[in-house]
Amino acid sequence: QDRTPLNQTTTSIPKLGFGVYQLYGQACQKAVLAALEAGYRHIDSAQLYRNEVDVGAAIQESPVKREDVFLTTKIRQSGGSPEKTYQSAIDSIEKIGGKGGYVDLFLIHIPSTGAGKETREELWKALEKVYEEGRAKAIGVSNFRPQHVDEMKEFAKVWPPHVNQIELHPWCQQREIVQYCRDNNIVVSAYSPLSCGDHLNDPTLVTVAKKHNKTPAQILIRYALQKDWVPLPKSGNPERIKQNANVFDFALDEEDMKTVDGLDRGKAGALFPANVK
Ligand code: A2P
Repeated sequence: QDRTPLNQTTTSIPKLGFGVYQLYGQACQKAVLAALEAGYRHIDSAQLYRNEVDVGAAIQESPVKREDVFLTTKIRQSGGSPEKTYQSAIDSIEKIGGKGGYVDLFLIHIPSTGAGKETREELWKALEKVYEEGRAKAIGVSNFRPQHVDEMKEFAKVWPPHVNQIELHPWCQQREIVQYCRDNNIVVSAYSPLSCGDHLNDPTLVTVAKKHNKTPAQILIRYALQKDWVPLPKSGNPERIKQNANVFDFALDEEDMKTVDGLDRGKAGALFPANVK
């Protein structure tokens, strides 16, 4: 699968990923196995999702080699001290990557929700440490706005962060932060690229889908790929998992892209407005 280099690292990220939010236990393992079988090589988990262990088990079980899969997780909060925060990161790495294993990408999940600059600094230092030790091949952030990324310059050894993962779909395009990331060589990845299914009946989207003989979901994923966002569509259904990966045999033309661009509703279009400017 096609990959995008991560600035200043020796690694690269597959351009299409698979999201596992709200998938637990057996259902999560089955979904990850179905995704690997359908050709995904990039799985996006988080401490908050409480399924790192399930993703890890599926990777173990799958015939696909560990080194051929790109695994992301995210740290949620301080452990109470720098040592405990670092240990929390290591625990995640071992759950998802196995004993003595590694993750490909480790992100700070959210900049705020009760956390101030000191917490962001503590979290970033823990991630820098696992990065230095080679137990994360790349490190980054999620839901960060330009001011949060700028602030990191005050304490970061590793800057810019390699990735910023944010909510991105046609109805919420976050143009300012995306441009900021482009200007600073930060790869942007897109959570909720299907807008959680909220707009799959949108008449504009349906018209474009009919034109290409594809489903609305496939148009949304293709659109994200052509925007150079790294989409992380999520599904627990094997058929839809397959469908969502079947987006490399067609392309949207300039007119289609403009049409879909026109759906942007800014913060009003966000599913998680607290994380959007
Ligand atoms: P399901 O798990 O039953 O497939 P997002 O990735 O934006 O968070 O959206 C995920 C939501 O979209 C889930 O509710 C998922 O339901 C649904 N979904 C995923 N793929 C498709 C698809 N190809 N067609 C319709 N709904 C989909």
